[in-house]
Amino acid sequence: MAIKIAPSILSARFDRLGEQVKEAAEAGADLLHIDIMDGHFVPNLTMGPAIVKAIRSITKVPFDAHLMVTQPQDFVKAFADAGVDDLTVHVESDHDVRATVKAIRDVGVSPGLVLNPATPFDQAAHYLPDVDLLLVMTVHPGFASQAFRQDVLPKIREARAYIDKEQLACALQVDGGINLDTAPLVAEAGADILVSGSGIFPDHVKENLRALREAAERAAYRRR
Ligand code: DX5
Ligand code: ZN
Repeated sequence: MAIKIAPSILSARFDRLGEQVKEAAEAGADLLHIDIMDGHFVPNLTMGPAIVKAIRSITKVPFDAHLMVTQPQDFVKAFADAGVDDLTVHVESDHDVRATVKAIRDVGVSPGLVLNPATPFDQAAHYLPDVDLLLVMTVHPGFASQAFRQDVLPKIREARAYIDKEQLACALQVDGGINLDTAPLVAEAGADILVSGSGIFPDHVKENLRALREAAERAAYRRR
């Protein structure tokens, strides 16, 4: 399966967000990654359902919403109504993970789980048969343009091995500090979907996306 690239609009220019979404879609983005932050779970505030709704009509590219909020269960319906295709929630948030996953599925959205860099894979493993996506963070969430954490690579390999062994239909996504140098590392470790904010936006979106995809594909080919 080819590697998918999910540009994160957190690094887009917000004064022309619509245009940037269009640029990413025309450049061949497989998904559009949308970082939702509540100022509690992480020390930053970003976008809410109104923004998602406003850009929904621009493209048919699936919206991949990453919820960095304390109580994700409270926002499931609002983001589903705004038109997201998947919703990933942190195991570290304050919620009943199984219930939130079910609530996401029940509104017709694909559920996913997220692990912070310090959280062991074990904390997600038992939920994986019920989700479509596992997102492994390679930076501490909250801000774009942080340095990639090499120490997370073993966890990506561990997740890949587990998903394969159990033959789960769960995609493995990686987010944080992905650029031309680090994309090959995560692709070789077994990631299926690469999120990139500052590696793609705001300028030369098409060229950046193409170069990132090529670097990742070369590494994935070596792995296969
Ligand atoms: C960080 C966000 C990431 C961020 C990635 O909290 O979850 O999606 O936008 O940005 P880069 O690729 O610049 O690290
Ligand atoms: Zn993210």
